[in-house]
Amino acid sequence: MKVTVVGTGYVGLVTGACLSEMGNHVVCLDLDADKIRTLRAGGLPIYEPGLQEIVQRNVAAGRLEFTTDVEHAVAHGTIQFIAVGTPPDEDGSADLQYVLAAARNIGKTMTDFKVVVDKSTVPVGTADKVKAAVQEELDRRGVKLDFAVVSNPEFLKEGAAVADFMRPDRVVVGAEDERAILLMRALYAPFIRNHDRMMVMDIRSAEFTKYAANAMLATRISFMNELALVAEKLGADIELVRQGIGSDPRIGYHFLYAGCGYGGSCFPKDVKALIRTAEEVGQPLRLLEAVEAVNDRQKQVLVGKIVDCYGENLSGKTFAVWGLAFKPNTDDMREAPSRVVIAELARRGAKIQAYDPVAVDAAKRVLGHVQGLSFAESGRAALEGADALVIVTEWKEFRTPDFEAMRDSLRDKRIFDGRNLYEPKLMKTLGFDYRGIGRG
Ligand code: UDX
Repeated sequence: MKVTVVGTGYVGLVTGACLSEMGNHVVCLDLDADKIRTLRAGGLPIYEPGLQEIVQRNVAAGRLEFTTDVEHAVAHGTIQFIAVGTPPDEDGSADLQYVLAAARNIGKTMTDFKVVVDKSTVPVGTADKVKAAVQEELDRRGVKLDFAVVSNPEFLKEGAAVADFMRPDRVVVGAEDERAILLMRALYAPFIRNHDRMMVMDIRSAEFTKYAANAMLATRISFMNELALVAEKLGADIELVRQGIGSDPRIGYHFLYAGCGYGGSCFPKDVKALIRTAEEVGQPLRLLEAVEAVNDRQKQVLVGKIVDCYGENLSGKTFAVWGLAFKPNTDDMREAPSRVVIAELARRGAKIQAYDPVAVDAAKRVLGHVQGLSFAESGRAALEGADALVIVTEWKEFRTPDFEAMRDSLRDKRIFDGRNLYEPKLMKTLGFDYRGIGRG
């Protein structure tokens, strides 16, 4: 099939690459000429396991093309995915200008039937706006052409996006047009061969499903983070409580890890946007407002522990920071808790020696200006001359370090662990002053 994907960000690139892997001829459009140049040269603007191979293979096979040429891109695909950014507005609602501009471009130049698919996470009701935008451009040209608008939200986890796309739990399709439904079924059939995991529903329910999923997951995390703070006061261990409740199949083990707050490009933005949408329709989401407030506070918890220990003035102190990306297996620094931790330590005069297996370049772009911050080549190097270690992201390589060397490097033999990587009793035996989250 002929597919166009507008936007070569995280979602667009994974979608385009994975669809080409199944034999579709995919054209990916982006207005950012630098990005397109990088992609054509075989490079990737993001780090995502498995993606580079797929991109290179399909570019070589002629099934995957990158372009900045809008007319060519619109002419190519019967199915046009819109996968551009929806950054939060000042008031937290999703900014739709890029989505609607993409829709207008389709309306401006299309000459045959198109299925316009909203892949970006967009507020309920956006499909109607997309439809209106395309129609307006057609009217302006004075042409009568058929098109359908479909909502097809993504549920890709960064770091596992290729696997999630190739073997989805579900494919949600919000559509009314029968032709569009048939085309979407054909497009996704190779990915859901063993079970029919495609759920076709009305467009508004599909749009809402995406927000509801992320809001539920964010709620679980904030709930556990809040319980963790209580556990500390009560002398209980949140890790044992997690296992105790996760064994109930109604609760399940996933997304129950207390930590230093959720980040990334989705949860913070989507929670905010859903709060705004609910307000707009006069049905405020009190629970979700609390989820957001708890998360903002949670990003400060590590710094609070450090201040409890060393006082407000941290000048003369050096902290090693392990992990910068908002989670492992990505170089994404968007809304990463490390940004808050590092800014707060620096503000109090501390020196910071930070290390991340892949996110150092991305971190330099957003934290490069921070006074007292330097980047180390390895986890071990970050510890050299540090008073204490702060763990912010749970990369695998941090899980079983050389504890003895670590202890000998750290002046105060102290660890502030925002991801509960180690067993408190073991750390005590090894001679560390170890402080996790909720491990009372
Ligand atoms: C998320 C959704 O999982 C995905 O379905 C959606 O399409 C986009 O948003 P992603 O942003 O890649 O994906 O990250 P995810 O793995 O869900 O983690 C989000 C944040 O929650 C991370 O900061 C992570 O550290 C934190 N988290 C996750 C916890 O603090 N505790 C947990 O138990 C799980």
